[in-house]
Amino acid sequence: MIKKCLFPAAGFGTRFLPATKAVPKEMLPILTKPLLQYAVEEALDAGMSNMAIVTGKGKRAIEDHFDRALELETKIQGTQKEVLLKEINAVCNNATFTYVRQKQMLGLGHAILTGEALIGNEPFAVHLADDLCTSENDSVLTQIIQVYNKYQCSIVAIEEVPTDQTHKYGLIAGDLVDNTNDTYRVTDMIEKPAPKDTPTNMAIIGRYILTPDIFNILKQTKPDKGGEIQITDALLTQAKQGRVIAYKFKGKWFDCGSIQGYLEATNYFAKQQGII
Ligand code: G1P
Repeated sequence: MIKKCLFPAAGFGTRFLPATKAVPKEMLPILTKPLLQYAVEEALDAGMSNMAIVTGKGKRAIEDHFDRALELETKIQGTQKEVLLKEINAVCNNATFTYVRQKQMLGLGHAILTGEALIGNEPFAVHLADDLCTSENDSVLTQIIQVYNKYQCSIVAIEEVPTDQTHKYGLIAGDLVDNTNDTYRVTDMIEKPAPKDTPTNMAIIGRYILTPDIFNILKQTKPDKGGEIQITDALLTQAKQGRVIAYKFKGKWFDCGSIQGYLEATNYFAKQQGII
């Protein structure tokens, strides 16, 4: 059973400056709900109640958001506004939150390794809050947990992207398994390749199930040219042993790490809720 979800949330979010100068990028809202709250709700919905958050300098707002705000609650008690805190209070009551700070920005792989103290020796999920996904039925995390239950190895969620976008993502190559048209045994992976080195257009989106041996692999993974330790490189070690499955998830993905994706998500949710 997957009980813990890790949320790397230490990055600077430079693409959204000046908004992210004092506000963590994970706290940027789509309508009135911060990206990280969508993320935690997705994990809860997938049956996880232990949220492990890797934070960094200037991220205190995250801890405050997932805590009760009794003064505020008392102030709006009995008014029409009370309902606005209902969802977040349910999240606070139904999940436990643990935090660790990444002291240096040394890449996503390093952030995940920093989370080892919160995860221990068990398989776990990783959720990148700026990849916001919606689906008609099961959420992406629920879908990849089902895939994990079948294959018992690391899982990455993927989606095909236009070829002029491949340089922004981790890409995989693999062989379809078990007569499926959506599940691949990964044979190769590369982080943000130059267009000429792109193996396919199958991009990793920010949902993973990782087996705990990934921590020791990460400790031995060399930093890339930019000095960052990449989770994609660590996963390649597992993939070479046939221990990574990529799954084309069912649903809609918004890359809210880009201004365009953020805007698309905002429009989509506003239409869904009848605001526009
Ligand atoms: C990270 C991963 C990358 C993945 C992407 C999904 O990159 O390193 O492999 O495709 O998330 O959003 P980042 O967006 O942090 O640069």
